[in-house]
Amino acid sequence: MKRTKVNDLLASDSPLSQVLVKGWLRTRRDSKTFSFLEVNDGSCPANLQVVANDTLPNYEELRKLTTGSALAVVGDLVASGGKGQRWEVTASAVEVLSLAPETYPLQKKRHTDEYLRSIAHLRPRTNKYGAMFRIRADTAWAIHRFFRQHGFRWLHSPIITASDCEGAGELFRVTTLPPGVTAGDENAFSQDFFGARANLTVSGQLSAEMLALALGDVYTFGPTFRAENSNTRRHAAEFWMVEPEMAFCDLSGNMDLGEALIKEMARFVMAECAADLELFSRFVDPGLTTTLTGIIEKAFVRIRYTEAVAILQRSGQEFGFPAQYGLDLQTEHERYLTEVHFRAPVIVYDYPKQIKPFYMRVNDDGQTVAAMDVLVPVIGEIIGGSQREERLEILEARMGECGIDRAAYEWYLDSRRYGSVVHSGFGMGFERLLMMLTGVANIRDVIPFPRTPGDIMF
Ligand code: 4AD
Ligand code: MG
Repeated sequence: MKRTKVNDLLASDSPLSQVLVKGWLRTRRDSKTFSFLEVNDGSCPANLQVVANDTLPNYEELRKLTTGSALAVVGDLVASGGKGQRWEVTASAVEVLSLAPETYPLQKKRHTDEYLRSIAHLRPRTNKYGAMFRIRADTAWAIHRFFRQHGFRWLHSPIITASDCEGAGELFRVTTLPPGVTAGDENAFSQDFFGARANLTVSGQLSAEMLALALGDVYTFGPTFRAENSNTRRHAAEFWMVEPEMAFCDLSGNMDLGEALIKEMARFVMAECAADLELFSRFVDPGLTTTLTGIIEKAFVRIRYTEAVAILQRSGQEFGFPAQYGLDLQTEHERYLTEVHFRAPVIVYDYPKQIKPFYMRVNDDGQTVAAMDVLVPVIGEIIGGSQREERLEILEARMGECGIDRAAYEWYLDSRRYGSVVHSGFGMGFERLLMMLTGVANIRDVIPFPRTPGDIMF
C-alpha cells in the first residue's frame, strides 16, 4: 500500500477509502470510547485528525501514545464533524512504529529559537521551523523556475577555488598540510594537496563571468563561505548565494533583473506558500503581508551613492557610523533610506571605486564604479552587483590599484582579450531573501544548520 501525504489528503475533493498515512503524533485526546490522534507528516503545516476507536485490537497501546511517537495509520478519509477541518481519518489500523519516551523535549509550550537551535532532530518538527524549511526548499525551486523562464542556465561553480573574488581576504583555507605549517609560507603550498593555495569560495562570480561570455545568461546558486568576523543577525559564515551573470547587459538591465527577481519571490511565497507563510504573519511579523505587498507593488527607487549620502546627511538623524562620501553604507543607513525616507526598496548605484572590488566597471568620471546594491526594509542590503570592467587596460590598472596578484588572474584577464563584451551580474544572499520573505530577524533561524563565528554545532 502506498503512503499518501497529509498535504494531498487534505486537498482531496472527495472521501477516500483505505489510505495509508505515516507521521508523528502531535497530540492525543481521549474520550470514553475513542481517541483523537493529531498526526503531522511534515508535508504541510496542518495535522491530520485520526479517530482511533476502542474497537481497534491495540487500543490500550494507543491510549499510552506520547507526543513525538511515529505512527502508520490505515483508514478511510471522511468528512470531519470537528471545527476548522474538512477531513479526518477513521482508523482501521494504527501501528506504533516508534514510541517516544516522556522525556521528548518538545512540549506544548513555545520554545525559544536559541533552545531549538540546539536540538537538531526536533527543530524541524516544530510548526515554525517546519514552515521555514518548506518555504526555504520551495523558494529555491522558484528561483530555478524564475531563471529558466528568463532563459538562464544554471552553472555549478566550484566550492574549492584558487581565487578571492571580493579581494577582502575573508577566506577559509582548504589544506591537507599537517598543523604547524604556516599559511604564510609560500613553499608550503607547493606541497599542499592542490600544489597551490586553495580556499572555499566567497562568490561564484568569476566562474559565472567565464560561462556568461560563452552561454549568454547564466546563474550560480550554491553555498558560499566567508570568514568574516561579524557576529550580526544578517551574516553567516556559510550561506547560499544566487548569482546571475548576463552578457551584453549594462547596469540598468542588471537592476531590472534584480528588481524582477525580488518581486517574483515575494509574489511566489504569497501565492504558493500561503499556508506556511500565515504562521509568520501571525506569530513572527504582523506587518509581513504589508511589507511583501509593498515590495511587489512599489517601483524600487534608484539613486546614486552621492544622493544617498546627501539624504543621510540632511536627515538630521544620529547615526552610530557617519554617512560620508567614501565610506560604505552601514545597515542603519540602509534601513533609514528604505524604512524612513523612501518607505520602499532602494537601489543605490555608482559607488566610489575605493570601497568596491577590482572587477567593477569604472565610470566616465574616473571616481565611481558601476556598482549597485539593492536595499530592502529591515534587512538592508540583499543584493550586491555591478557592471563588470570589460576593458583590459582599465581592468589591469584597477587590479594594480587594489594590490591584486595579476599572475593568478591571467585566466580572467584573457576573457577581456578574446571577444570581451559589456556584461553584468549580481549576488543575492538566499538567507537574506528568506528573512525578507518571512520577517524572521536572525539569519540563524532561516538556515537548517547555521554556522557563525564561534559557533558550529552538529
Ligand atoms: O555584495 P557581495 O559581497 O557581492 C559579491 O560577492 C559579488 N561577487 C556578487 C556578484 O556580483 N556576483 O555579496 C552578495 C550578497 C549580499 O548582498 C548579501 O545578500 C549576501 O550576498 N551576503 C551574505 N549573506 C549572509 N552572510 C554573509 N556573510 C554574507 N555576505 C554577503
Ligand atoms: Mg555587498
